[in-house]
Amino acid sequence: MKKVKIFDTTLRDGEQAPGFSLTVPEKIQLAHQLKRLGVDIIEAGFPIASEGDFEAVSLIAKEAQKEAGWPIICGLARCRQQDIARCFEAVQFAPRHRIHIFIASSSIHMEKKLKMEPAKVLKLAAESVKYAKSFCCDVEFSPEDATRAERDFLAEMVRLVIEVGATTVNIPDTVGYSHPEEFADLISYLKHNVPNIGKAVTSVHCHNDLGLAVANSLAAIKAGAEQVEVCLNGAGERAGNAALEEVVMNLKTRKSFYQVETNINTPEIGPASRLLTRLTGVAVQPNKAIVGANAFKHEAGVHQHGVIKERTTYEIMDPKKIGWEGESLEIGKHSGLHGIKKKLTELGFTPDERQIIDIYQKVMALADKKKVIYEEDLVTLAEETFGKNEEKIRLVDVKILTGTKIEPTAIVQLQVNGLESFEVIGHGNGPVDATFKAVQQVIRKFIKKKIELEIYDLTNLTKGTDAFASAFVQLKSGKRLVRGRFVHTDVVLASLGAYLQALNRLLRT
Ligand code: KIV
Ligand code: ZN
Repeated sequence: MKKVKIFDTTLRDGEQAPGFSLTVPEKIQLAHQLKRLGVDIIEAGFPIASEGDFEAVSLIAKEAQKEAGWPIICGLARCRQQDIARCFEAVQFAPRHRIHIFIASSSIHMEKKLKMEPAKVLKLAAESVKYAKSFCCDVEFSPEDATRAERDFLAEMVRLVIEVGATTVNIPDTVGYSHPEEFADLISYLKHNVPNIGKAVTSVHCHNDLGLAVANSLAAIKAGAEQVEVCLNGAGERAGNAALEEVVMNLKTRKSFYQVETNINTPEIGPASRLLTRLTGVAVQPNKAIVGANAFKHEAGVHQHGVIKERTTYEIMDPKKIGWEGESLEIGKHSGLHGIKKKLTELGFTPDERQIIDIYQKVMALADKKKVIYEEDLVTLAEETFGKNEEKIRLVDVKILTGTKIEPTAIVQLQVNGLESFEVIGHGNGPVDATFKAVQQVIRKFIKKKIELEIYDLTNLTKGTDAFASAFVQLKSGKRLVRGRFVHTDVVLASLGAYLQALNRLLRT
């Protein structure tokens, strides 16, 4: 059966989206998970965009040098010599590397954005591919905004770049404008009207502005596309890119219809999705296909009855085969070293034997105090061991005073930059407000940048007065958005945990 290549751009198009920014170590961690997931190509970043992007792409390429079995490591570049050279400088360490260059192809983009005549754009595209080929043999070319380009111009651009050596031509629906039939027709048109199209891999890259990114990608595959560009959890610019998990599970579940296969190791989908959520703090909606918390929950009695009798009555996919899990990780007093190692790997950690033993001992100590150990608990313990918990602001203690006759007051003891701890007092409308007011005093005193609290949200994870509450905080500093999420039975501690997590994430880079 024909194989469709999975080109993952979570670390490039996905990371470009507000709130999805990752630190360099976080990008490396995600790249390891993408390797376990079995993607064919990792687009690791846009090396000319910033020093951080360059460092991340080159370090991921160096990781790929250390052991066999890594995907192709790709970097993005505009049609400029300095972009292309910088991109090569970053990706070159990977045994298999790719330069991905793009230029606008629609009239509106050429005229208004590039301010360039179509003939000049064609020339630049061809020269850039030739230049990229002087560094490496694997060159991908994208005519940006292809779905709004004149078809004959697009076909000529694709023909020309293949003639000068492009090995993959990627057709992007940059603004998410196309419809499945129309997009499939465009791919067929190119397949029939570009004489040398067979010399390159035809790829597609769809945005989700009209909610059709996955449908368009699948229609293009049906029309003969051999590579599909996707992001975990549907991350990406604006409404995002086609979701990796949805494209892959469509192809797998409806294999006889699509007649193609992928190299994706589907049990790694759940861990990959959860890792991205954990690193960015951006949760997926509960009803999201494949990876949403409700994707395999059956509420209606008639459905539950059916599933108990025969799972396939209401389940078209086996949740175990996509590494799907509920909220509890089932880790506790009786978990063995092996079980903990497996869970850590699922969460995207790559611990050595010494680190596993260390985390195991911490889990056992915690299990003495707490019946259920949640993902967040295990991650906190693991991050302590990995030394990633170098929190600039650490909570030492918090006391709350509230009642009908006093203004809610929080006395928060914090340690900043490892210095001696000190106390701040905050007053507010309620205990959470008072606690946040106290933390804001610390921000004003020690962190001299403007940090705004954009979103605060609290939800119950379980039922009853002893329920677990999950707090979510989104902070904004300049253009940067960061998020924190924390779970606790105490709403003040859940809220404070989320606030400090977001703050520390902001201060880490
Ligand atoms: O959406 C787009 O056009 C892109 C290109 C760089 C492929 O992301
Ligand atoms: Zn894109």
